[in-house]
Amino acid sequence: MTVIKVAILGFGTVGEGVYRTIQSHAEELTAVLGKKVEVAAVLIKNKQKERNVSEDVLLTTDFEDILNMPELDIVIEAIVDKDPTFSFLKKAIERGCHIITANKEMFAHHGQELLELAEKNNVSVGFEATVAGGIPVIQTFRQLLNINRIQQVQGILNGTSNFILTEMREGKQSFAEALSLAQENGFAEADPTNDIEGYDAFYKAMILSRIAFGEEPNWHDVEREGITAITSELIEKAEELGLRYKHIAQISKSGNQIKATIKPVLVGKEHPFYHVEGVQNAVSVHSDIVGEITLQGPGAGMFPTASAIIEDLVYVCKNNAPAPRLTALTT
Ligand code: HSE
Repeated sequence: MTVIKVAILGFGTVGEGVYRTIQSHAEELTAVLGKKVEVAAVLIKNKQKERNVSEDVLLTTDFEDILNMPELDIVIEAIVDKDPTFSFLKKAIERGCHIITANKEMFAHHGQELLELAEKNNVSVGFEATVAGGIPVIQTFRQLLNINRIQQVQGILNGTSNFILTEMREGKQSFAEALSLAQENGFAEADPTNDIEGYDAFYKAMILSRIAFGEEPNWHDVEREGITAITSELIEKAEELGLRYKHIAQISKSGNQIKATIKPVLVGKEHPFYHVEGVQNAVSVHSDIVGEITLQGPGAGMFPTASAIIEDLVYVCKNNAPAPRLTALTT
């Protein structure tokens, strides 16, 4: 039996979740892929820190050590920063590796270029973990809604914001207390500004827009607002009226124009997002054949994100050619 050699870039919440899932689900991976998946290397920041990783794994702070490994099939990226991640992934593709990323900010900026480069190099790109954590929304759009004409997509795309709004309402916590709890649970970014100011949801919405509509709105025209202006008093007043604040990204196409807004919205019991609570995310898509579909699930955290990445691992191994909708997008 041959082996699929994997490198993981970053060993924070997501990187460690992927490593542990590859160990815990080794049997399933071998059964589906017909090959053993082996983590050959992990890119870390600090060599002194104790890590629970097998002795056979190369732990390095230098990406070139990984790039120069004699055998390497897949590079999984779980680093937060936009740079140097993009250049790492370009080099990995040029070396002939499939890549998988969880980095929404980087992918919103450079995803198209990576997809085009991957196509030229006959490798695949998995980016399920960039949007809505463990919900398989990217593959649903990529593979299962190819003929439907999508008219509108709505999403709760930031787990931290939804968690904070829920804790403030249900647990009567202050904004600051709820945010610290989200950080303790590993939901929030290292710098949570992107979560609470709506940038994280914005990047995810732009990735979804490209998958759903083949294009994005002009970023400068997108109305973006976070949840920092939502006070406990506002939440209480809304509750008295039977309404809840949800941070919603909405992308729609009218004629040739794509319009997007990312902001807190008051929803009533009839809305599919009313009961989406805590770290849950949801995506509701309206399209002409099927009508409305709503997908809901955990939007952040170690294992939900690892789930998206591990399923991408199977996808990149089995699909060397990009899916038809993506081929159309990259031409
Ligand atoms: N900080 C992000 C969130 C992580 O809270 O949704 C998942 O992308």
